[in-house]
Amino acid sequence: MTIETLTTQRLRLEPLEPRHGRAVEAYARLWEVARYTAEVSHPYPPGGGILFAEAVVAERRHGGGHVWVALEKGSDEAIGSIGLDLFEDGRAAELGYIFAPWRWGRGYATEAARAVIDHAFEALGLDALHSHAAVINPASCRVLARAGLRRIGNVSFEVLPERGGSMIGECYRLTRGEWRDRPR
Ligand SMILES: CC(C)(COP(=O)(O)OP(=O)(O)OC[C@H]1O[C@@H](n2cnc3c(N)ncnc32)[C@H](O)[C@@H]1OP(=O)(O)O)[C@@H](O)C(=O)NCCC(=O)NCCS
Repeated sequence: MTIETLTTQRLRLEPLEPRHGRAVEAYARLWEVARYTAEVSHPYPPGGGILFAEAVVAERRHGGGHVWVALEKGSDEAIGSIGLDLFEDGRAAELGYIFAPWRWGRGYATEAARAVIDHAFEALGLDALHSHAAVINPASCRVLARAGLRRIGNVSFEVLPERGGSMIGECYRLTRGEWRDRPR
């Protein structure tokens, strides 16, 4: 399956490929990036960015692999990764992202999330989108709220054993109807 490149005002979201792996690793390996995520290993294995990208490419053969790398227009620097994990036979998805600390606080994650959300409903035809963020990660909770998701409660979610096995997160959701009727 081919994944589309998406563009926003300041970013180009390219389907993640192994050639992006080293650039992704530069931020994925940092503790301040990994600490609130469920699955980003820390320490990050050397070469892990390329291995991750290869696994994503392999998933595309089975209709998955919806992961993009966010490149800053102009510099073409990779500054974040964002993806959709499809479930319910592709009718729903979980949104996830990590961004490079040296570009935090500029609205990039929110901008990328909005583009991926629009793509999820317009092109992929999803019925609903879910996400969650650790309650101790207010920046991510803010991204989800500003991207239009609605907080529906708290949830305990699984994280890597070395990170304690579970975390309390804020749970967010956006249905197709809510997306269609969103204020613009
Ligand atoms: C969460 C993350 C993606 C945000 O990236 P970003 O590009 O800085 O996000 P944005 O600039 O679009 O938005 C961040 C928002 O959080 C707010 N914020 C940042 N730190 C905050 C804090 N400590 N308390 C409250 N709000 C905070 C910012 O002010 C901004 O909100 P605003 O636009 O209303 O001012 C980034 O911090 C990251 O990669 N963190 C590590 C990985 C991670 O947590 N991934 C998500 C796992 S669920």
